[in-house]
Amino acid sequence: MLISLYLWTQSLSLCTAEMPVLDREPSRDSGGGDGLPKLPLPALKDTLDMYLSCMKHLLTEEQFNKTQNVVKQFGAPGGVGELLQSKLMERRENKANWVYEYWMNDMYLNNRLALPVNSSPVMVFPLQHFRAPIDSLRFAAHMISGVLEYKTLLDSRSLPVDYARGQLAGTPLCMEQYYRLFTSYRLPGTERDTLVAQESSVMPEPEHIIVACKNQFFVLDVVINFRRLNERDLLTQLDKITRMADSKEEHLPPIGLLTSDGRTEWAQARSELMRESTNRDALDMIERCMCLVCLDDPSGPELSDTTRAMLMLHGGGVAKNGGNRWYDKPMQFVVGADGCCGVVCEHSAFEGIVLVQCTEYLLKYMIGSPSKLVRAASVSELPAPRRLRWKCSPEIHQLLASSADKLQRQVKNLDMNVYKFCDYGKEFIKKQKMSPDAYIQVALQLAFYRCHSRPVSTYESASIRRFKQGRVDNIRSATLEALTFVKAMTDGKLHTSDTEKMEMLRDAITAQTKYTILSITGMAIDNHLLGLRELAHELKMEKPEIFQDEAFLVSNQFILSTSQVPTTVEMFCCYGPVVPNGYGACYNPQSDHIIFSVSSFLDSPQTCSAEFVKCLVQGLMDIGDLCNKCNSSSNTTQKKQGQTLETHTQTETNWQSKTPQRPADKTETQQSLPQFVLKTPDQTKVEAQTQTPSLAETRALKNGSKS
Ligand code: COA
Repeated sequence: MLISLYLWTQSLSLCTAEMPVLDREPSRDSGGGDGLPKLPLPALKDTLDMYLSCMKHLLTEEQFNKTQNVVKQFGAPGGVGELLQSKLMERRENKANWVYEYWMNDMYLNNRLALPVNSSPVMVFPLQHFRAPIDSLRFAAHMISGVLEYKTLLDSRSLPVDYARGQLAGTPLCMEQYYRLFTSYRLPGTERDTLVAQESSVMPEPEHIIVACKNQFFVLDVVINFRRLNERDLLTQLDKITRMADSKEEHLPPIGLLTSDGRTEWAQARSELMRESTNRDALDMIERCMCLVCLDDPSGPELSDTTRAMLMLHGGGVAKNGGNRWYDKPMQFVVGADGCCGVVCEHSAFEGIVLVQCTEYLLKYMIGSPSKLVRAASVSELPAPRRLRWKCSPEIHQLLASSADKLQRQVKNLDMNVYKFCDYGKEFIKKQKMSPDAYIQVALQLAFYRCHSRPVSTYESASIRRFKQGRVDNIRSATLEALTFVKAMTDGKLHTSDTEKMEMLRDAITAQTKYTILSITGMAIDNHLLGLRELAHELKMEKPEIFQDEAFLVSNQFILSTSQVPTTVEMFCCYGPVVPNGYGACYNPQSDHIIFSVSSFLDSPQTCSAEFVKCLVQGLMDIGDLCNKCNSSSNTTQKKQGQTLETHTQTETNWQSKTPQRPADKTETQQSLPQFVLKTPDQTKVEAQTQTPSLAETRALKNGSKS
């Protein structure tokens, strides 16, 4: 174990410099962002105009003409739009965040789909090399110690305030999501779920963790006789748990499988469980725990990044660790005996960025205070952890079989591809004087267009934590400018010159960056349109035509669902697609490489993750080549003319100079990552050919997986 953790920490060594985070300002408010501004409400006309310009190139001419009329009618003076807008303005006055509830219900709580793959993102850790089963328990004990440390920071409200990075850097961010990490629970409902938050004034703070092992659930008290267990105690208790879990005659059905089912199905199963007081006690313990630690059995011989991502997303189904989960709980730390480790998160409580911050704290804690455990204490006074008991009616057994079957279908259906693009990273992009995020988004548009010859509604999550109770809004990355660029890059007949393509690339990136700024400043259109729709519903008005229009459906079918989840520790995030014929594309830009996690469903004849990745890699190489070619020619011209490089990022620069900056000494230190070394185009092409399968190969691959 020491060697394995040592090796692992070596791979994380880039991050140790950022370990102490306590020098940052403690939160001065309740975490709800009391000192932050309220989310603004965009002007109705701005949103409607933007809606039309976002949709024009995604619709047929006929569809667009109809939509234009519908939108005009909605926005007419004295019309429905104005009425709803005035009501929204009132709502903004009266609420801390006018969209929060609407957004939460729409995005999560009303969604009836099963949480694994469809909703719960995961963080995948580097593969651990445990030499013996006890090594994985040491790892788990060490991590739980970190959780307890982190929980102390949260409980004492001394977690430092986050400040925005990247675009419009320096403003403080709402910290509310952090306080839900270890205290909330997503309760299933037959029509709508409820995000239950444990308020310490109402309920006692949880002082136990649930450990899942071989589909059994155990209560691990982390405070006994007013004393917090140390790492050695924790290891002793985990050791006891694995022994108890080994006893086959005491095995109870894998009730956790029920939580992997559709939300309505799980709500119904939970009602059935609640008939028995034994089950009520067990559910209560799970619902009030801090988090789960899932001690997984080995899953199989091959543990590539892609395989680990899939295992983290669905547990490998009933035959593997699919029942060793409780999906309603926001934080589930998975520690596999085979070294497959990570975190599964229930998404309604917080965003991926908060998950990353917490996870990085834990991993850095483990690096900063290496485990000194050699073996578990052989004799311990500690009471044995308690196994949760279930009484299962025949109906529950039937429901379990049905949940297992559905999870198995999900396992078979997930088409995952994790790819580390190593030819360049964000430093190269910054050198082009372009926003790395916008560049990657344009590359994703190019990838999709190459695969499918059309643009589609695209979602990119944009943080609105600059505002009170802020979560996210959408950056609609399928801009007209991106479409013009990708057409030029893919249509051989157009004979567009490199200079023209470069101009189009810059236009696409400028459009993307402008939309990003609109979104992070609370002026994007998705939350606004949602607010107008929900308000009409609340007022029991007939659904306005704009929300019944086909264009509105198209606009909300996010065939490409993307998100940047950067990390400073070696790990990556992934999630599933949000529509049956779509892709989930999560990316983690690093200074000299970018990790992509692409997901889709095998039963969709329209998608193939390997093919998408292939097109993405080709697109990134093509765009990189274009930048290199144009830069070298413009450098030559500049040398001749003695001019400076023209940049197309004036808007961003102006914005940034207007933003109140965080004091320099408080700025979060960015880990210094390795210098980018630009490879020659020829070198990169050779590597791409060897790293990615051909189109024919990927098709064969997908067909093979389907058969
Ligand atoms: N020239 C040179 N450098 C530039 C540049 C330009 N034109 N534009 C931006 N950069 C730099 C930035 O200053 C920043 O530098 P840093 O790495 O030193 O901080 C870096 O490039 C990254 O900026 P950029 O790529 O533009 O993106 P960003 O970091 O601002 O991120 C979003 C954009 C939309 C991803 C971000 O605002 C956000 O909302 N993130 C949250 C996403 C989320 O919620 N994910 C989880 C969902 S579950």
